Amino acid sequence: MKKIVVLGSINVDIILNIARLPLPGETMAMSNRSTAGGGKGANQAIAAVRAGAETSFIAKIGQDRSADFMLDTFKYDGLNIEHVTQDENAGTGQAYILLDDNGQNSILIYGGANQTITTKDIEEAHDAIADADCLITEFETPLATSVAAFKIAKENNVLTILNPAPAKTNIPDELLKLTDIIVPNETEAEAITGIKVTDRPSMEKAANKLHTLGVKNVIITVGANGSFYSQGEKNGFVNAYKVNTVDTTAAGDTFIGYLASKLNSDLGNIEEAMMFASKASSITVQTQGAQNSIPYLRDVEI
Ligand code: RIB
Repeated sequence: MKKIVVLGSINVDIILNIARLPLPGETMAMSNRSTAGGGKGANQAIAAVRAGAETSFIAKIGQDRSADFMLDTFKYDGLNIEHVTQDENAGTGQAYILLDDNGQNSILIYGGANQTITTKDIEEAHDAIADADCLITEFETPLATSVAAFKIAKENNVLTILNPAPAKTNIPDELLKLTDIIVPNETEAEAITGIKVTDRPSMEKAANKLHTLGVKNVIITVGANGSFYSQGEKNGFVNAYKVNTVDTTAAGDTFIGYLASKLNSDLGNIEEAMMFASKASSITVQTQGAQNSIPYLRDVEI
């Protein structure tokens, strides 16, 4: 069984259903509101554990009702939460998701406890990282913790996957050089490279720029169109499944968790792993909400 460690965020998502985004100064009624477990890190960890990987999560949560709700979900899914610690001052992270009638979302984040993880927390998880096959992180926790975790991973030959989300323009060179696979969407790829990703040539151009920044393997996800990979001399494209999209929240996180659970350490099966990840995220987008919509392996393998 694959051993995966995810360093990342935990948010409670407040989903506000609206016909369209309000204009400046406009007051609008929403058609519904609901709550779901979310946070990029937690979604990726849930995807990996539901894909069948032995998964440990490094994260920080508050000491509030939201924390109880999230910790119950993690225990139910069998996620190892030995390194999920509670901060007594900061609240559990929250995301306000504006979801329009076309399934497109805009997200506002309150970082809360996610921003209080320290490099000391990472040192405490040293053995879990060193013993893993793969470490995944993103940008909803402090950058210094990502660098510290990736350093431990590379000292121990652990595969590192960076999801550069939410989009950032200045990623430290050090982090990129410690990254085995970077998985941006088209917006994140543009933020890092300055290249607008619209078609296959622009995907190749952006990937080449990422290679020159020190990342050997690049996977750019382009939503309903599919995903592109580049390993320098070799590249390819995997089409997405055509489905009825209700909500794209956590689609990218599902892709990453499932990808990591399937990838061989030599990345020899990258296309197969991307197809598998793409099938899983095509299921996620058919239901509203983040963690509640992430499929179990039995639903992906049929
Ligand atoms: O990637 C989706 C996630 O981004 C949501 O669950 C929300 O919490 C934000 O972190």
